[in-house]
Amino acid sequence: MTIGRVLIPAERLQARVAELARQIDAESAGHDLVLVGVLRGAFIFLSDLLRALATPASVDFISVSSYGAGTQTSGEVRIVHDVKAPLAGRDVIVVEDIVDSGHTLHALLHHLQAHRPRTLRSCALLSKPSRRVLPMEATWTGFEIPDEFVVGYGLDYAERHRGLPYVATLRPEAPHEA
Ligand code: IMP
Ligand code: MG
Repeated sequence: MTIGRVLIPAERLQARVAELARQIDAESAGHDLVLVGVLRGAFIFLSDLLRALATPASVDFISVSSYGAGTQTSGEVRIVHDVKAPLAGRDVIVVEDIVDSGHTLHALLHHLQAHRPRTLRSCALLSKPSRRVLPMEATWTGFEIPDEFVVGYGLDYAERHRGLPYVATLRPEAPHEA
């Protein structure tokens, strides 16, 4: 698979991240924010969001079992690496690359709730509403996109394309490219 068409150019990503940061700032006065990034797809989004926020925030990461090399999710979500930061009484925002079936976000919120945060919210760069299996919506969503597999800005296909500054679709390679 290779890059198809650019779905969200870099400038639109940056503008939307700034808007999300303004919204989070407006709804986080006096909060003790902890951004919990979901590895690995959210690491670029998280780093841009953190720098766009005016509210001070600490950062931690969590890792869950996911797709492997394919493009299908299952209902089984396993925590592979848990957060290290104490979350009790704090204001946690789960930062996700994309909400697809909703299984991952559902499992993460359930898991993090057990850490007894004061507030637990979520921010997803992308959402594919047409793919939902569970009725999950992040507190803040950057872009709703159609049911197409996308890469770039942290998102991968088989660990490739995370470094693209834009979000793009994939297409099968033409025979002469393979
Ligand atoms: P869900 O559990 O089905 O909501 O899937 C969420 C996870 O699937 C995301 O955190 C991504 O890691 C992965 N994912 C879903 N759709 C895409 C995509 O289009 N490109 C890359 N990763 C995706
Ligand atoms: Mg992910």
